[in-house]
Amino acid sequence: MNNQPTKVTLSFDNGNAPIELPVLAGTLGNSVIDIRSLGQHGIFTYDPGFMSTAACNSNITFIDGEKGLLFHRGYPIEQLAEHCDYLEVAYLLMHGDLPNAAEKQRFTKKITGSTMLHDQLNNIFRGYRRDAHPMAVMVGVVGSLSAFYFNNMEILDPRHREISAHRLLAKVPTIAAWSYKYISGQPFMYPQNHLSYAENFMYMMFATPCEEYVPNPILAKAFERILILHADHEQNASTSTVRLVGSSGANPFACISAGIASLWGPAHGGANEATLNMLEEIGDASRIGEFINRAKDKTDSFRLMGFGHRVYRNMDPRAAIMRKTCHEVLDALGLNNDPLFKLAMMLEKIALEDEYFVSRRLYPNVDFYSGIVMRAMGIPNTMFTAVFALARTAGWVAQWSEMHADPQSKIGRPRQLYTGSQAREFLPLDQR
Ligand code: ACO
Repeated sequence: MNNQPTKVTLSFDNGNAPIELPVLAGTLGNSVIDIRSLGQHGIFTYDPGFMSTAACNSNITFIDGEKGLLFHRGYPIEQLAEHCDYLEVAYLLMHGDLPNAAEKQRFTKKITGSTMLHDQLNNIFRGYRRDAHPMAVMVGVVGSLSAFYFNNMEILDPRHREISAHRLLAKVPTIAAWSYKYISGQPFMYPQNHLSYAENFMYMMFATPCEEYVPNPILAKAFERILILHADHEQNASTSTVRLVGSSGANPFACISAGIASLWGPAHGGANEATLNMLEEIGDASRIGEFINRAKDKTDSFRLMGFGHRVYRNMDPRAAIMRKTCHEVLDALGLNNDPLFKLAMMLEKIALEDEYFVSRRLYPNVDFYSGIVMRAMGIPNTMFTAVFALARTAGWVAQWSEMHADPQSKIGRPRQLYTGSQAREFLPLDQR
């Protein structure tokens, strides 16, 4: 809305008195109509998928989908991705400001010193099938943390929330890497405190006890960038899930486990895995046309994975950064002629020129490129969403903590438009 009003009036065609509603202004972006008083009048609004509804106020992340802007605590994502490491961005999301040198050192020490898991958790992993999806293992093991770390769980106490947030940030990479180790039949590799957050994850994923593993600095930098670009994204499906679950007072580990479950869906974080699976299915440039036609066909449920975004109607700024990183990594690894990468670049070009995608403003999203980078790094497709989950943990814990610090926060309880049967009389079994 341009030239935004300060109040709006809701009028009715049945003679009911009009209702005046205040308009709340944020510091950036759209104002919102405050409809909280409507329930007192017995009136509810209808907005499936929250297309037009702000469910909370937040000062963590700002997105302008039209202009392609993403800010964390006011800092443009481009500057954070260029100059920060992931833990600085996590600190920014959680504490509101970038850390100074001493704060950064303390925070890094705190997180790297908490990366080990309770030894009994090894047995939880061992209860899963070896062919389980890593995200299924993550949902379970992260939820299980509440059976191990149940001290300091007074969620209305900021210090207790901080302790839980630190635990999650530190332990989720270990859980993600071990989910992979478990399904690949390799021994768990324990975290190494001298490595950076990104390097440590690569170590736990790729190292074995048989030989020394030194993370490739180009790949570690690219991985750090993937983590930063996925760290938070306002009120997306998984973050809203974390808030909704948390609104009942549920413990933080259960909330993040629910967020991981939501992220897993192919319309959300599962898109990076689905993109690579789609590219493998297309297999050859000669079949691109067939898949583009399927994506346009309204009788076919197929969608071009890695294209489109609910909020960004122009280029996703994260996608622009990831696209550049993608080229850097493939250059560094000499993979420019990799057939799947070439196929991806052809698909990108065709979709960017095709009237169907242009008119609907369906651009490649960050996951179109991050999947290609992760594949080049040797990360298997099934781990892509697990990597997204470990990156998003910073945003989830920041949003969860912000919600509990907000005195206006209430249990999430949407209403509905009932379209079922009218009231009817029960009939005994022999009369139905
Ligand atoms: N391929 C083909 N057509 C598409 C695609 C796609 N990837 N995405 C949207 N469309 C079409 C829809 O069919 C619809 O067409 P219509 O107007 O003719 O009916 C139109 O574009 C609008 O689509 P909606 O579904 O209304 O858009 P919405 O905002 O609800 O969905 C979403 C956004 C879920 C991301 C969607 O674009 C999609 O499914 N993309 C593929 C999955 C994906 O890449 N998800 C990752 C999101 S990014 C992230 O989570 C980090």
